[in-house]
Amino acid sequence: MSGSDKTRDLAGQRVLVCVGGGIAAYKALELVRRLRDAGAEVQVAMTAGAQQFVTPLSFQALSGQPTRTTLWDGAAEQAMGHIELARWADRVVIAPATADLMARLAHGLADDLVATLCLATTAPILIAPAMNHRMWQHPATRANLATLRERGIQVVGPNDGPLAEGESGPGRLAEPEEIVAALSGATLRAATVPQDLAGLNVVVSAGPTYEDLDPVRYLGNRSSGKMGFAVAASAARRGASVTLIAGPVQLATPTGVARVDVRSAAQMHRAVFAALPADIYIGAAAVADYTPREPAANKIKKSSESLALDLVRTPDILAEVAAQTQALKLVVGFAAETNNVAEYARRKLEAKRLDMIVANRVGIADGGFESDQNAMTAYWKDGERSFASAPKTQLADELIDLIVERLNA
Ligand code: C5P
Repeated sequence: MSGSDKTRDLAGQRVLVCVGGGIAAYKALELVRRLRDAGAEVQVAMTAGAQQFVTPLSFQALSGQPTRTTLWDGAAEQAMGHIELARWADRVVIAPATADLMARLAHGLADDLVATLCLATTAPILIAPAMNHRMWQHPATRANLATLRERGIQVVGPNDGPLAEGESGPGRLAEPEEIVAALSGATLRAATVPQDLAGLNVVVSAGPTYEDLDPVRYLGNRSSGKMGFAVAASAARRGASVTLIAGPVQLATPTGVARVDVRSAAQMHRAVFAALPADIYIGAAAVADYTPREPAANKIKKSSESLALDLVRTPDILAEVAAQTQALKLVVGFAAETNNVAEYARRKLEAKRLDMIVANRVGIADGGFESDQNAMTAYWKDGERSFASAPKTQLADELIDLIVERLNA
């Protein structure tokens, strides 16, 4: 399915975009443009804070409708009352959802137009949080997030990466295309997502592993876990019972997925085998190949000019899963390569006795480890399929399509 096919289900949908007061408010302009491109009818409501970052006029130009900014605007209320606007919406999107806005929603406040609209609507709400990473990780925000999730509010992002204040971490607004994809995915899901993995147990590994050298240092890698999390989310949407074995990443647990957090390759190995038997294993984790023979009990001190680490091989989880006697229906591996992608991938397919391997090139500008986008190719014994560069959430759906095809082949 191409990107435009994927968003076709937004055509004719009435989407109310609520903009919160954060620097990411400027990205909501692009969101409105993309929603209109997808054929949605869009109205925009802004908090007072949002108006400090972007003008209502910019949204008006892009939405083609007057932007709503306050409960106390007589003329706007006469044209369409706020309760009417809340009822008008088929979908509500809050982008960026600030910590303050999330707190107000969680507590059911109606102290401004946006909060009132969210309380008054019966339409499904999707929030795209964006804030400083410390605010995102604060127990108060975590608790508000859990409350909102429990109420069925869909959450997209935040993504990990550089933040406005020169810091880095989870807190970046999801990209407009991800928000649109999530919105259209949810609409599509409500209507037509095939439950073609119903009754199947799927185990997915994701993220890096950290191998401790001493109490303060570890060997790790740059895997973000985004691809594995997207695959787990996609499999769950298609009806599978999904267990996600997650290395150390700061990503939200996808809806309906059972998550087990681990740190090292050895812990991941134990957790994966504890989650079996399963029908499908998808090894998307970037498992460390080597781990210190003995992590030092105390912090290693500087003494000489060089330091040699004594490392030993970790268990190859994927190869062991593929080799075990319990018959899985499909074992899928991932391969991140910097060169000779096809050749190395096919070699791994054979050496590890996999049913399929999904390879991508890392070290290129657009895509790979830390990106939200990727391009990849899946190889199996007598075939291959290339996936053009797309958001990882979309690639995950397309990969699950292929997995279903291979299961039935
Ligand atoms: O051999 P390489 O590490 O490139 O293979 C990558 C694939 O193998 C990934 O699917 C990864 O999850 C899996 N793997 C594993 N255990 C290891 C190393 C890699 O499961 N120790």
